[in-house]
Amino acid sequence: MTKQVRAAGIWGTGSAVPEKVLTNADLEKMVDTSDEWITTRTGIKERRIAAEGESTSDLAAAAGRQALKAAGVEAEDVDLIIVATVTPDMMFPATSCLVQMKLGASKAATFDLSAGCSGFVYALDVAARCVASGGYDRVLVIGAEILSRITDWTDRSTCVLFGDGAGAALVGPVSEGRGLLSSDLGAEGAQGHLLTLPAGGSLLPPSIETVEGRKHYICMQGNDVFKFAVRIMEETTLTALRNCGLGPEDIDVFIPHQANIRIIDAAIKRLGIPKEKVLVNVDKYGNTSAASVPIALNEALQADMIKDDDVVALVGFGAGLTWASAILRWGR
Ligand code: UT7
Repeated sequence: MTKQVRAAGIWGTGSAVPEKVLTNADLEKMVDTSDEWITTRTGIKERRIAAEGESTSDLAAAAGRQALKAAGVEAEDVDLIIVATVTPDMMFPATSCLVQMKLGASKAATFDLSAGCSGFVYALDVAARCVASGGYDRVLVIGAEILSRITDWTDRSTCVLFGDGAGAALVGPVSEGRGLLSSDLGAEGAQGHLLTLPAGGSLLPPSIETVEGRKHYICMQGNDVFKFAVRIMEETTLTALRNCGLGPEDIDVFIPHQANIRIIDAAIKRLGIPKEKVLVNVDKYGNTSAASVPIALNEALQADMIKDDDVVALVGFGAGLTWASAILRWGR
C-alpha cells in the first residue's frame, strides 16, 4: 500500500447463515441431478436457504453485529459501512443503509459495492485504505447474499451451486507491520457476459417477456468461468504476494472464494500451497458469492487456524469478471 499514515487490519469477524439446509438429496427431487454428480464436480454437499421474508440486510446485520462484538466496538462508533452484494434487498436504497438502521450505527456513512464474488475482498481493500489514510477509524465491511432468490430452480447447471449467507469484518488501525500488507484488484469487463443476471436493470427493465424468458436469474457459462478462475487465482495471489515482498511459501492460511473444490484444488496445486493451510467449507454452504470469503475467514478464526503474525491470503473471483486478493499479517 502507498501513502498510508498508519497500518489497517481486521479487529474482529462474524458470520450468519440461514437455518434451512438444502441437501444434494433434496435437489435430486427438484431437478435431474445426483449427489454423486454434485459432489464430484463441485465438492458441495449442502447449502443454506433464507426463509421467506428474510433479507440480505438481515443476514448482513447479524454478521455485522457479531464482528462488532468480536472487535469490541459499539455500533454508534462505526464511521463507515460497506456492503458487498449482488443481491441487495432492493434496487435502492443501498442495503448498507438498511444495515446501518438495523445495527443502530447512526453516525456511519454507507455504500454498497458490486464486484460479484470478489466483493468482500474489494471492500476490504477500500476499507483498509480509508483507515490507513487516517480518514476513518472504524469501518464495517460485510459480504452478504441471498442467491436463492436469483437462482433458476429449474436449471440444474446452476441451481446446485449457490447458497445464502453473510460474513463481516471490522477494520481499524493496527500496529505497524500488521494488517493489510498488499492487495491486487482487477477486472476483465470484456468477459462480463460469462456471468450475468440479465434483466431488472435499466438496460432490460422487468416485463412479461423478461419474466417468461427467465432473465431474472443467474446466467452462467460455467466452463469458461472455471478456466478464468483457476488462472486468475494463481495470478492475483502471486501479484499481491509480490507487492509485499512475499512468496506462496510465506502463506500460513489461504482463504479462497468457495465456488468449487476443483477450482480450489487446481489453484493451490499451481501455487504449491499444502491443503492443511487452506480453509474449505464449500461442502457446507456452496457458493455464497460475496459472503463466501468472510464466512470462511470467520470459520478459520473460530477453528484457531489463524494465530497472531500469521500471513493470511484472501482471494476472490467472480462476476465482472473480477478478481481480488489481499495479504494480511494477522493481529492488532
Ligand atoms: O463464483 C464464481 C462463479 N462461478 C464459478 O466459479 C463456477 C465455475 N464453474 C464450475 O464450477 C463448473 O463449470 C460447473 C460446476 C458449473 C460445471 O462443471 P463442469 O465439469 O464444467 O460440467 P459441464 O458444464 O461441462 O457439464 C458436464 C455434463 C453435461 O452433460 P453432457 O453435455 O456432458 O452430457 C451437463 O449437462 O454434466 C451435465 N450437468 C449435470 N448433470 C447432473 C450439468 N449440471 C448437472 C447437474 N447434475 N447438476
